[in-house]
Amino acid sequence: MSEKQKTRRNGVTIMGNLILLLGSLSFVMVLAVLNGTAGFLCAMGVTLSGAAGIAKALGENISFSYGALMVLAIGCGILRGILRYLEQYSNHYIAFRLLAVLRDKIFRALRVLCPAKLETKQKGSIIAMITSDIETLEVFYAHTISPVCIAVLVSVCTAVFVGMVSSWWLSLTAVIGYVTVGILVPFCVSIRLKASGVRYRTEFASFNAYFLDSIKGIKDIVLHNGGEKRKEEVNRRSNELLTETKKMKHDISGASAATELLVSVFILAALAVGIVLVICHDLTMGRMILGVAAVFSSFGPVIAISALPGNLTQTFASGDRVLDLLREEPAVRPVENGIMLDTLDNLNVSHLSFSYDGETEVLSDICIRAKKGEIVGIVGASGCGKSTLLKLLLRFWKKNSGMILYNGTEIEEIDTGSLSEHVTMVSQTTYLFDESIEENLRIARPDATQEEIETACRQAAVHDLIMRLPDGYQTQAGALGDNLSAGEKQRIGLARAFLRGSELILLDEPTSNIDSINEGIILQALKQQKKERGIILVSHRESTMAVADCVYRMEGGRMIEQNR
Ligand SMILES: Nc1ncnc2c1ncn2[C@@H]1O[C@H](COP(=O)(O)OP(=O)(O)O)[C@@H](O)[C@H]1O
Ligand SMILES: [Mg+2]
Repeated sequence: MSEKQKTRRNGVTIMGNLILLLGSLSFVMVLAVLNGTAGFLCAMGVTLSGAAGIAKALGENISFSYGALMVLAIGCGILRGILRYLEQYSNHYIAFRLLAVLRDKIFRALRVLCPAKLETKQKGSIIAMITSDIETLEVFYAHTISPVCIAVLVSVCTAVFVGMVSSWWLSLTAVIGYVTVGILVPFCVSIRLKASGVRYRTEFASFNAYFLDSIKGIKDIVLHNGGEKRKEEVNRRSNELLTETKKMKHDISGASAATELLVSVFILAALAVGIVLVICHDLTMGRMILGVAAVFSSFGPVIAISALPGNLTQTFASGDRVLDLLREEPAVRPVENGIMLDTLDNLNVSHLSFSYDGETEVLSDICIRAKKGEIVGIVGASGCGKSTLLKLLLRFWKKNSGMILYNGTEIEEIDTGSLSEHVTMVSQTTYLFDESIEENLRIARPDATQEEIETACRQAAVHDLIMRLPDGYQTQAGALGDNLSAGEKQRIGLARAFLRGSELILLDEPTSNIDSINEGIILQALKQQKKERGIILVSHRESTMAVADCVYRMEGGRMIEQNR
């Protein structure tokens, strides 16, 4: 599924799927809900004990003594505290356990999707997913599911209690109040907040992007005297963001004011209904006080629900993104227990065709051969499919038709571990981690000896350069900043490939971004190393092909010429 064709799930589906992720933790969730409900009922018990005392004083037949009512009130108060603690404990236990499980699932999904499916994803959005999206889901698990269940249970219990002890008319008034405050208000508010929330997030993202862009390009801004103009634009965007923030806060506070107002209205309505019933002699004063006190004290859980919608829109968006990632099918699955290659002497590609989307063919009927001891060049304009061909040779994607044979064995049958041991790639730019040069090289082979590392660096003509660095092989790559040129980094990339010892090295435009001196050094190094291995060198530049023993020419996904 690509970013574009993502299906938007509706809120109910997302909630359902997120709850399904609970798995065996769902019994803790039930515990949280039961504790929460019992806790709130205990809180109501404090008020109701008082109300029962007043009713008794008014002559109502209450089977508890005043002393017993007092003990009941105190007992309910203490129990309320304990139950509330247990509720919060269970909720957060679930939330944090689940976040660990979810993160684990996301990392596993990313590992499987890598590298093909991650190419098209923005790195920022992946980071956002494992940080802020997961945090948002914490809100869902710890502060959304159980409040909703608790509100329903408390409302039902109160309605039944009021109906039995006092009057079903009072109970009906309360139910209308619960539905209005707990369902209608959140529904209307979520519609309003959705629009302002989306606008706020759009402004926020655009401001962030502009600001980050400005910092990244600060050198060019200063060079071209563009500071004032940038500052004005930053201020303008900041003001727009502020306006949207105000609008959103305005909507949120409007919603909570409306909730408070409606709660007061329904409490007054309950009181009015009670008084009318007493006047009509349908209800005694004592029972009216009991009923109205129960209704008064029962709105807490539904008020909590009406505060949710602001969070829920974001929760759904986060949930949707996480579910998307967990559902996404990888481009290829690793071949486990496949054929292990002993050595790799030759590669034979015949009639290979491929398309990314199943419609437009990016490669058609490609045939190439490569063997140990020679440099095979592939040249063609940008976008003709050279990089795609190399990715297929590494099995990052699944070919549509044709054959890729390593030593006569079809690529689909070769063990993925064995394939990556025998075939490696150097791409257009080499990424250096913020570690020492030695550690940067060791990625290719963690158990390499110092001697092997130095040999590989000599082969890539980068040893002397490293020795001139302040701490030699121990120099931190990050501390060098821009002091290593792109060409020098590429030579370290090449040393990595040599150190890995693979028998086939694929080079994807290794010299396109670098100066001609470094290009010369790299091409010379390749020429000297070709005896040991096969090399496929891809470039859009004709001049790079000078070192190749044979050259294939590509155009629009086809081989148009072969020069052996
Ligand atoms: N991950 C991808 N998904 C969809 N289309 C892609 C992807 N990568 C490359 N393409 C498309 O495939 C074609 C060949 O790209 P590529 O192999 O990178 O060409 P080259 O390396 O020769 O410049 C281009 O039209 C490019 O837009
Ligand atoms: Mg390319």
